[in-house]
Amino acid sequence: MSSRVELESWKKLCASADRLQSQHLKSLFSTDTQRFERFSRQEPGVLFDFSKQLIDEQAFSELVDLAEACDIAAWREKMFSGEKINITEQRAVLHVALRNRNNTPIYVDGADITAQVNVELEKMRLFSERVRSGNWLGYTGRSVKDVVAIGVGGSNLGPQMVTEALAAYADDTLDVHYVSNVDGGQIASVLNKLNPETTLFVVSSKTFTTSETMTNAKTAVEWFLQSAQDQAAIAKHFVAVSTNLEKTRAFGIADENVFTMWDWVGGRFSLWSAIGLPIALYLGFDKFVAVLEGAFEIDQHFCQAPNEQNIPLIMALLSVWNTSFLGCQAQAILPYDQALHMLPAYLQQGEMESNGKHVTFAGEEVNYRTVPIIWGMTGINGQHAFYQCLHQGNVIVPADFIASIEPQHKVGKHHDILLSNFFAQTEALMAGVDAEQVRSDLLAKGKSEQEIAALIPHKIHKGNRPTSSFILDKVDAKGVGRLIALYEHKIFCQGIILDICSFDQWGVELGKGLASNIETELTNPEVVNPHDSSTAGLIEYYKKNRKN
Ligand code: F6P
Repeated sequence: MSSRVELESWKKLCASADRLQSQHLKSLFSTDTQRFERFSRQEPGVLFDFSKQLIDEQAFSELVDLAEACDIAAWREKMFSGEKINITEQRAVLHVALRNRNNTPIYVDGADITAQVNVELEKMRLFSERVRSGNWLGYTGRSVKDVVAIGVGGSNLGPQMVTEALAAYADDTLDVHYVSNVDGGQIASVLNKLNPETTLFVVSSKTFTTSETMTNAKTAVEWFLQSAQDQAAIAKHFVAVSTNLEKTRAFGIADENVFTMWDWVGGRFSLWSAIGLPIALYLGFDKFVAVLEGAFEIDQHFCQAPNEQNIPLIMALLSVWNTSFLGCQAQAILPYDQALHMLPAYLQQGEMESNGKHVTFAGEEVNYRTVPIIWGMTGINGQHAFYQCLHQGNVIVPADFIASIEPQHKVGKHHDILLSNFFAQTEALMAGVDAEQVRSDLLAKGKSEQEIAALIPHKIHKGNRPTSSFILDKVDAKGVGRLIALYEHKIFCQGIILDICSFDQWGVELGKGLASNIETELTNPEVVNPHDSSTAGLIEYYKKNRKN
């Protein structure tokens, strides 16, 4: 397969990048009064405005040509039909099958997985309704009041981000608490507030071998047994979500308390599976289904919309444009909605564990930048933290701004104030403020010529910072489902365009293996492994000074 850089469309885009980097977005807007209409798309529930990206019609057309040259439609068909496109693990990539609300059959190795998914969804429904109705009783006959969800990475970020996003819609049936960090402080701070008689643990781990999760789960069992005293009571207070029944049995969780998932579901794309059980327990199964339905709508859009109308594909093309052509090294995710405060963290795994790669599908070193560093926080808080850098730094950081028309909480004029900042910041990042504007502003403030001359260079904002704006109807269950699916398909498209396998994560293996060896050194004084002098010095310092 020829390298992407040899494609005609890629070469044209390199020329367009040179052409556009000498232009300013302000002039692109002033010469095209229809720019917003030209570079924005609307789908039910979402407006996507990419007119503040540094593109023109020619570059946009070349980006769409690049998508076509990379056979994006054929790859999409491969994914949706269950082809094993996760080539290094020989697995299908079928998180879309988890929210296949049309129930069309999808086959993996000859089995219709749609039927399997529906069996698991029904099991989730029955269980979550039994727990929420108070009919699932603990070892002292009391119903569940608290759920502790133990898991890390994709077994944590999805469920936690969604439950935080939708907390406004929760009733007071039960509370959900997340434990993901192996730092004992996290599980200690959770458990010391809870009553073992009314606490249900959901241990989520696709492999059921992740050291952090297994450590937290064992600590939870020890805490529980201090009160229950009886191993048999575990069955009433521990359920698991995993593909690995052998390991869940070995841990002591009965098969009937295990919710299965499948190896064709990547961890970072798994919240739609039983990994999302904490969502159903906390919000009710109907809300969990609404999240699935929102994602399904976007799946339909992704499959049916022509490339130039296809929102996730455009998102991917713009990220490739900014990263691989304009040389940007990061991308900020800036939700103007407190409920979406975990979205940047969720997308860090989604984007950077998928596309943080350096070789092509064929294993050849890529000769272009792949994934940008994904980071961010709620926009308003960011305005008082890092927006100085976004506006006047000499590093360009493309950003996704996300807001909603309708707030979850109607409090005075807060939403209008929030949205005024949302609108103002992308305008300021695009337009900037030049010397002439600074001068007239300072003159109006009565500054002397000397003062003005000294201040102008410090007050100029160059602008020309690219952003995309998303306006959701509302951050509700369907809205969150839509938003996550948009980014999932963006990640997929970006990987295909970059010719990289977005579906494995070999880069996490080395650290895990070294940590396991060093853990043995820290727990067994007989064991000393060879290390570089830094690592050896650090380990020795810790061992010498720790209080056992
Ligand atoms: O970060 C590596 C990783 O394998 C992720 O892909 C995954 O979501 C996480 O660890 C947890 O894995 P598991 O669900 O198997 O515990």
